[in-house]
Amino acid sequence: MSAHEGAVTSLLSLRAVEGGYGQARILNGVSLDVRRGERVAILGRNGVGKTTLVNACLGIARLHGGEIAFDGRPQGAIKHFTAARSGIAVVPQGRRIVPGLTVRENLALGAAVRRPGRWNFDTVCELFPILRQRADTPGTAMSGGQQQMLAIGRALMANPELLILDEPSEGLAPVIVDELAATFVRLASENTAILLIEQNFSLVYRVAQRYYVLSKGAVVEQGGVEGMSIEDLKKHVAV
Ligand SMILES: Nc1ncnc2c1ncn2[C@@H]1O[C@H](COP(=O)(O)OP(=O)(O)OP(=O)(O)O)[C@@H](O)[C@H]1O
Ligand SMILES: [Mg+2]
Repeated sequence: MSAHEGAVTSLLSLRAVEGGYGQARILNGVSLDVRRGERVAILGRNGVGKTTLVNACLGIARLHGGEIAFDGRPQGAIKHFTAARSGIAVVPQGRRIVPGLTVRENLALGAAVRRPGRWNFDTVCELFPILRQRADTPGTAMSGGQQQMLAIGRALMANPELLILDEPSEGLAPVIVDELAATFVRLASENTAILLIEQNFSLVYRVAQRYYVLSKGAVVEQGGVEGMSIEDLKKHVAV
């Protein structure tokens, strides 16, 4: 069987991925899968390589070994500017709203490389009405929660099949995190797979169907969330 035996059902497939920056190896053989419309979480402490994993998927971090496939196509040499075209969009850690650009202009950036689909300025503003109200104000003038909505909206503008979210709850009030949880579940039900990188158990518990735990650049634990209580999840996930 090929390294990508799961290609028929896997949207994103990582097999024994090793990689990092320059000669520094951060990822030590990561294998994981995200299927179409699935909600998958990656948990792990600070510095274990979560963002590096995202960067490897985007071709920003160097791949030393293993394979990354998206939609059945090996992406070993994917360049990040083609990630959006292939159907992957990322909400980066820290949101990275571009200073000096309005909300509308930040959203337009997400549409620079886009696939056909239902997301555009109007539909994103239906999802997050605050973005229409603040459309002509600088993106960075908004609250943290509003900026996160902008970062998610910007990613959706590309009409991705997979939305990767790198610690979206960081620094946000619980009520905003609740809203985001509902949004992620809804997006997946509309067939946008969610790869949620988080340290917030409660968000993972509410959103994810399956989880992987990353430690020192390797998956040390994985499982399904269904049928578990949040206490069970915390016990299983020794992060
Ligand atoms: N651009 C870079 N060049 C060299 N090393 C880096 C770079 N970015 C991160 N690292 C190192 O790679 C390791 C993993 O970092 P990474 O950002 O992937 O962790 P993380 O799990 O996302 O952590 P956090 O939860 O704090 O975001 C760390 O030791 C970090 O210092
Ligand atoms: Mg990180």
